Amino acid sequence: MTPRAGSSAVEVVGWSPAGGLRVLDQRQLPGRVEYRALATIAEVRDAIATLTVRGAPAIGVAAAMGLAGCSRDLALDALARDAAELRAARPTAVNLGWALDRVLDAARHADERVRREAMLRAAMRIRDDDVAMCRAIGEHGVALLRDGMRVLTHCNAGALATAGIGTALAPVYVAQERGLAVEVLACETRPLLQGARLTAWELTQAGIPVTVLTDGMAASLMAAGRVDLVIVGADRIARNGDVANKIGSYGLAVLAKHHGVPFVVAAPWSTMDLTSPDGGAIPIEARDPAEVTHLAGTRVAADGAAAYNPAFDVTPHTLIHRIITDRGVHAPPFFLAPDAGALPPPA
Ligand code: MRU
Repeated sequence: MTPRAGSSAVEVVGWSPAGGLRVLDQRQLPGRVEYRALATIAEVRDAIATLTVRGAPAIGVAAAMGLAGCSRDLALDALARDAAELRAARPTAVNLGWALDRVLDAARHADERVRREAMLRAAMRIRDDDVAMCRAIGEHGVALLRDGMRVLTHCNAGALATAGIGTALAPVYVAQERGLAVEVLACETRPLLQGARLTAWELTQAGIPVTVLTDGMAASLMAAGRVDLVIVGADRIARNGDVANKIGSYGLAVLAKHHGVPFVVAAPWSTMDLTSPDGGAIPIEARDPAEVTHLAGTRVAADGAAAYNPAFDVTPHTLIHRIITDRGVHAPPFFLAPDAGALPPPA
């Protein structure tokens, strides 16, 4: 295990020349800390599709290391096929394609004899950049936090979702380093319970107070004045600032607006999608309805009932108070210039 300051003491995705690619199996948390070795492109694809490794930046890092380390045939057309297979594993998080494109680019610029090394170097840079971007998000975002605040979050956009200290939770970790007492309210996040299982686990590991809520409790807590700020992560941010994130984020944004609670999104620059003009262009992953009808393998919905299972929803930019990126804290209007790729100057 690789200890890291300000977060759970685990390495989410790792590569070593001797051991190859391994990921922390997040399906087993919080019960067991177990790693899976991934040796083939099919295994990497399955690990991403089954949420063994999950969270937009972490799946980008895993896919990059997987393409670089597990591809058998290093001819460019074969690599493009492997990349397409990995890209299709989860359609919403833009970081996945972004990371694969960076590794493919490194492959194109290297002779076949040294291609694997060049691809691995690119994958390690993606991981290192993610660590730095998370840290920068934390350093910028901590300006929004005050001693004693109660911060509500959804899903897991913490260390387990990245190579670093997370995105939505990064300001919370930096606040802890600076001696600010911040309490996190973690929505459990049905159907796969990333909030209850993962956010609560990594925060308790780090000694940060966390209280788990069922998803339906947020409204009454906000009405009672017991939520000071909402911070969520993002899987993709369109050019107008619309944000795709875990299903339920949009509902929280509506509630936050109604109750006058600031709704903030935190994401690295790799989550920006300059090719999507607005949220309507973002593909939303549809997952197996059995994730909704069943809990831990046991059917909980009445036999014969169907279920919806979109993994993400889109929060319109009009409901977002601030977007924290590694470049600063950005205020509306969130317009990403297609050429400059820049949000407006930090507020
Ligand atoms: O389905 P998941 O668990 O991969 O969903 C994760 C989220 O929605 C996160 O908020 C998002 O990927 C940002 S992670 C820093």
